[in-house]
Amino acid sequence: MEHTVTTLPTARQPGCPFDPPKELVQAREHGPISRYPFPDGHQGWLITGYDLVRSVLADSRFSSRKELMRHHPTIDLGDIEVPPAPPGEFLLMDEPQHSRYRKPLVGKFTVRRMRLLTERVEQITADHLDAMEKAGPPADLVTAFAKPIPAIVICELLGVPYQDRGSFQQQVDSFLSGETSDEELMAAYTATQHYLAELVAAKRANPTDDVLSDLTESDLTDEELRGVALILLAAGLDTTANMLALGTFALLRNPAQLAALRADSALADQAVEELLRYLSVAKTFMRTALEDVELGGRTIEAGTTVILSYHTANRDPERFADPHVLDLRRQDGGHLAFGHGIHQCLGQQLARVEMRVAFPALINRFPTLRLAVPAEEVALRPETADIFGVKSLPVAWDV
Ligand code: HEM
Repeated sequence: MEHTVTTLPTARQPGCPFDPPKELVQAREHGPISRYPFPDGHQGWLITGYDLVRSVLADSRFSSRKELMRHHPTIDLGDIEVPPAPPGEFLLMDEPQHSRYRKPLVGKFTVRRMRLLTERVEQITADHLDAMEKAGPPADLVTAFAKPIPAIVICELLGVPYQDRGSFQQQVDSFLSGETSDEELMAAYTATQHYLAELVAAKRANPTDDVLSDLTESDLTDEELRGVALILLAAGLDTTANMLALGTFALLRNPAQLAALRADSALADQAVEELLRYLSVAKTFMRTALEDVELGGRTIEAGTTVILSYHTANRDPERFADPHVLDLRRQDGGHLAFGHGIHQCLGQQLARVEMRVAFPALINRFPTLRLAVPAEEVALRPETADIFGVKSLPVAWDV
C-alpha cells in the first residue's frame, strides 16, 4: 500500500529540537517516497530517502522555476498564478537562465578565494568574542555571535556599507523568520528592493573592491544585479547564522562531542560536515516534474510538485550508519545539506570557512560555556520557516 503523509508538521517534537518531525522520519521508514496531498487538493509527492532526493536534484526533468510552484505545502492558497522569479533570482530558475547569473559568480566563491578570507573571519569572530567576554554572562548567542559574524562577512564581500547593515538585516530577517504577516513581508521586501536599487547605482557610479562592483562589469542589468544581490544576501545572512546557533546548541547537548572538538582543533573540518548533515537547517525544497518521470517505482506525472526533505535524506539509515547520532568523527560524507546538482549552494565554501573558524573559537574562548536556561525553554523557529534554527540561545560561562 502506498504510504501517504496527510499534513506536514509545523513544529518539531517536544524535546527533539535537532531531529526531523516524527511524521517525516516515519514516512521514510515506509519507503523513500510517499504521497502528499497538498492542502489545495493537488496530489503531490514527498521524498524522504537519500538516493531519491539526490537523483531528483540531478535530473533536469525536475524544475526549480518559481512560476510552476503553485501549491503551498501547508496552506490552501486556492488556484493561484505565481509570477516567474524576478530577474537575477536564479535559485528559482532552470537552465539556460540560471547559468546566465550563476556563471559570473562562481569564480568569486571558490575554495581558494574563500580560504583567503579566513584571517578576516578570524578577526571578526575574535572581535565578537571579546565583546561577549567584556559584557559578561549571560548572552544571547544569536544576537551576540551567530547573526553578526556571517552578516558582516557577506556584507563586506558584497560591498554593503557598514552603516547600512543593521536596518538591512532587520528587513531581511522579517521575510525569513517564517512568522511575518503578509503586509510586513511586502513592506520588508519593498524596502529591501529600494535599498538594493540605490546600492547598485552607487557601485556603478563608484566601483569599490567587492563582488557587486565586479558584477557591474558583466552584462547584467541593474534590475538583474539587484536580484543577484538579494539572493546572495538573503542566503548569506540567514543560513550560516542558524547553523552557528543551532550547532552550538547541539554541541552543548552532546558534551562528549563538544569535548572532542575542544581537545582536537584538527577535527573542525569533519565536525562542520557532521553538524551540517545532522542539522540540515535548509531542510526542504520543492521541484516540479516537467514530464512524466519514473521514480522509485512510481510515475511522477508532468506538472506534479515534489517536496524534497534534505533533512530526512541526511538521516537515512541506508546511507548513514546510526543517522540520528551526532558523531563528529563520522567518516561517511556526501551529505545533502548544501543540495546537489545545478543549484548546489554557491556559498558553501564561504559557510565552511565561517563555521570552521567560529565553532572552535567560541568553545575555546569559553571552556565553561553552557545553556543559561533549561534546554526545553530554548525558543525554536517554526518548522514552516524556510531555514530552521533557534530564535535565541541564552548562554552563560564562569568568569
Ligand atoms: C543554494 C544551503 C550558505 C548562497 C543553496 C541550496 C542549499 C543551501 C540546500 C540549494 C537549494 C536547492 O536545492 O534548490 C546552505 C546552507 C548554508 C548556506 C546550509 C550555510 C551553512 C550560503 C551562503 C551563501 C549562499 C553563505 C552566500 C553566498 C546560495 C546561493 C544558492 C544557494 C546563491 C543558489 C544557487 C543556485 O541556484 O545555483 N544553499 N547555504 N549559501 N546558496 Fe546556500
